[in-house]
Amino acid sequence: MTNASTIRRDESAPASALTPDGWRLPPTASLKCADLFCGIGGFHQAARNLGHEVVFACDIDEEVRRAYHANYGIEPVGDIASVAPEDVPEHDLLFAGFPCQPFSIIGQRQGLADPRGTLFFEALRLIKAKRPRGVVLENVKQLTTAQGGKVIATIVSSLREAGYSVDHRVLNALDFGLPQKRERTIIAASLRPFERFPWPDQTVPMTPLAELLEANPDPKHYASEYIRRSKNHRQTLPSPAMWHENKGGNISSHEWSCALRAGASYNYLLVDGKRRPTPREMLRLQGFPDSFDIVCNDGQTRKQTGNAVPVPLAQSVMERLASVL
Ligand SMILES: C[S@@+](CC[C@H](N)C(=O)[O-])C[C@H]1O[C@@H](n2cnc3c(N)ncnc32)[C@H](O)[C@@H]1O
Repeated sequence: MTNASTIRRDESAPASALTPDGWRLPPTASLKCADLFCGIGGFHQAARNLGHEVVFACDIDEEVRRAYHANYGIEPVGDIASVAPEDVPEHDLLFAGFPCQPFSIIGQRQGLADPRGTLFFEALRLIKAKRPRGVVLENVKQLTTAQGGKVIATIVSSLREAGYSVDHRVLNALDFGLPQKRERTIIAASLRPFERFPWPDQTVPMTPLAELLEANPDPKHYASEYIRRSKNHRQTLPSPAMWHENKGGNISSHEWSCALRAGASYNYLLVDGKRRPTPREMLRLQGFPDSFDIVCNDGQTRKQTGNAVPVPLAQSVMERLASVL
């Protein structure tokens, strides 16, 4: 039986026996997983990397379902509201990167009978019915501060009422080796009580941006001369760098990408101020392997990668969760 106290830094172990941040984790058997709001499967890819098996997925978006099926061989079901617990196979871990709903609705919730039930409560409905041993929820960083903390408090107390030990933390993809600054609220919950969740606490060296840029991107990804001229008003870092234009029109450039976004304007992120990242580059920025088959068009893939959970971040949390189950 393992618990958080069996996890410790092991200076003597060969590097291959340790997590990238130097912790020895007890080996875990293959676990069965449910992937709610699955998107293109950041959680699925992380689970697969750890040898776990995803037995159920759902997403309301048809194009997302097509990409997921092409890559993982599972046909996700659609609207979560139509999913009955008996439709979901038994599983050990449940993942839910639930959409950023109007947080006010969650924060104002009085009880589960609230007719305004949001998508978090749809996930909670299945969690209460299926009682997976572990749960990982993911959302934007602002979830922790929305409504002065009321929203996260409601989510945490709902899971505690359902019998789970719960903890949450904001994690950044940059700390997991990806050249993308992407801060996300992660909520980890376990039926087996833990005193302190063993969050990843060390940073993995960042893969240089140059290593994930394509050598000969299709010319269609280049911005027009007009956009390039209008943006070319400051010296950038040594190339390659990602230029990021914020809502106020200010441009900053870094050796990493700002967070990929599902609904951002077309040219908010340009490699060296000249071209948009390609679909393959966006997948790499989220930690998907090159074996990921791109079956949707560029616009859909941009949206899907902007919605995804970074794979190595999800994987690290999953690994630690499995160790406290
Ligand atoms: C933030 S994304 C999650 C992305 C996913 N974690 C990944 O790694 O790609 C939220 C997803 O919820 C899906 N969604 C929104 N409403 C839904 C609903 N009612 N039922 C099922 N899925 C829904 C969206 O289509 C979107 O793909």
